[in-house]
Amino acid sequence: MLNLAKEELLFLVHSYYDIIMVAVLSIGVTFLASKAWTRVSSGKASIPGRLGLPFLGETLSFLSATSSTKGCYDFVRVRRQWYGKWFKTRIFGKIHVFVPSTEGAKKIFTNDFVQFNKGYVKSMADAVGEKSLLCVPQESHKRIRRLLSDPFSMNSLSKFVKKFDDMLCERLKTLEGDGKSFTVLDFSMKLAFDAMCDMLMSVTDDSLLQQIERDCTDVSNAMLSFPVMIPGTRYYKGIKARKRLMETFGEMITRRRCGKESHEDFLQSMLLRDSYPSSEKLDDSEIMDNLLTLIIAGQTTTAAAMMWSVKFLDENREAQDMLREEQLSMIRNKLDGASLSLEDLNNMPYGLKVVKETLRMSNVLLWFPRVALNDYAIEGNKIKKGWHVNIDATCIHYDPALYKDPLQFNPSRFDELQKPYSFIPFGSGPRTCLGINMAKVTMLVFLHRLTSGYKWTVDDLDPCLEKKAHIPRLRSGCPITLRALEDGEY
Ligand code: HEM
Repeated sequence: MLNLAKEELLFLVHSYYDIIMVAVLSIGVTFLASKAWTRVSSGKASIPGRLGLPFLGETLSFLSATSSTKGCYDFVRVRRQWYGKWFKTRIFGKIHVFVPSTEGAKKIFTNDFVQFNKGYVKSMADAVGEKSLLCVPQESHKRIRRLLSDPFSMNSLSKFVKKFDDMLCERLKTLEGDGKSFTVLDFSMKLAFDAMCDMLMSVTDDSLLQQIERDCTDVSNAMLSFPVMIPGTRYYKGIKARKRLMETFGEMITRRRCGKESHEDFLQSMLLRDSYPSSEKLDDSEIMDNLLTLIIAGQTTTAAAMMWSVKFLDENREAQDMLREEQLSMIRNKLDGASLSLEDLNNMPYGLKVVKETLRMSNVLLWFPRVALNDYAIEGNKIKKGWHVNIDATCIHYDPALYKDPLQFNPSRFDELQKPYSFIPFGSGPRTCLGINMAKVTMLVFLHRLTSGYKWTVDDLDPCLEKKAHIPRLRSGCPITLRALEDGEY
């Protein structure tokens, strides 16, 4: 038997000698080439990390982390354990360096547009529009940002605070009256969206709001998709949704220009500049692309932060009690049923610390991506032109050298002054979040009404994160049940 098998084997080797040799040689050459490539490419700089095969790199590990309930930041966390604070990797064909320090953040933020810039992503420009703040080059960015800024300054937000407060009070009362469990994330997404659409363009009609929200979600999903117009793809749906939105915005502008409608809102303040020189006004496509940008940039971020504040305060009763005490003592000096004013919000020092601590711990935007325009060194780490550098806000916010017991929710830590660039939830430099004031007042009003009017129980304590989300959010959405505070109750 054995002899026969040996003979068969010899016969096979003899007959297929050429093919077997070619196969063995190909495998050997591929193996050696891949080893050599890894050695050459990782020897390009002193930053440790694994670049793997061209294009593929560590894309599969990244996608696997993104699809898990630990969230995409787990990819970064694991590599930091392997390589230390600075590491590089390759994702979707691009080399990425995660920048973990305040010094690195400072260098990149202060050299934004000069040594670093946002990378051009075709799907993003197609979806949100070429005139969006997220896509325009430096000169237009400066002008557009200047012209967009006024309605988002603290002074201009007093009308927004009152409207948002009234909307929130009514909705919380209804939910408490129902006595049923509801998901904070769904609630805060709708609340943030409705409040923004009212502030930006006075849209309050429910069916129009729903249509705009559906379309904005499709646009947002298309921003980082593969740009091919094939029906059914995220990109295709996003481009179609964008077209509908532009038509809706265009019609609104026309109705206002011919005097059929007029409101006191963001859109009207842009149209009031119609007769100004071109450097002092936005053209229609700039207005429309940035209306869309503001809605997309503002809704999911603020809603996620609201959800995390509920979760963190539930887990930290001492902080919740201190916040409630502050809010109740503030309200005692006000008439029954009076709305909140900007001045009231300035009298919430502990509330503001809760907002900051929520943003530090939740890291709604995990890191801020840029591309190096030239070779550049940060703390001795050599970055090559064309590499992607990600300012790792999460790493900075969890650094024990900057924050004692960083995993502990402790708003009072903000009694102390922060080291420069150690607290960067809204970024810094020329691209600092345009909605920073709006986000802060929204969260303060939310925390005020929640803690001064209600107590709540969290109905699902599952800590898992939503899969495939670039903003960390609880998979459960944080369902809660509200109970109204009784008179004199703390
Ligand atoms: C808690 C809520 C929010 C957080 C944590 C947040 C965070 C950020 C961060 C970190 C950036 C800079 C990103 C970078 O440097 O790459 C940014 C930019 C931006 N945010 Fe926010 N944001 C929030 C709410 C809002 C709101 C409510 C609006 C709109 C009303 C808004 C509009 C924008 C815009 C337009 C930009 C781009 C600015 C530019 O490129 O010049 N954000 N945001």
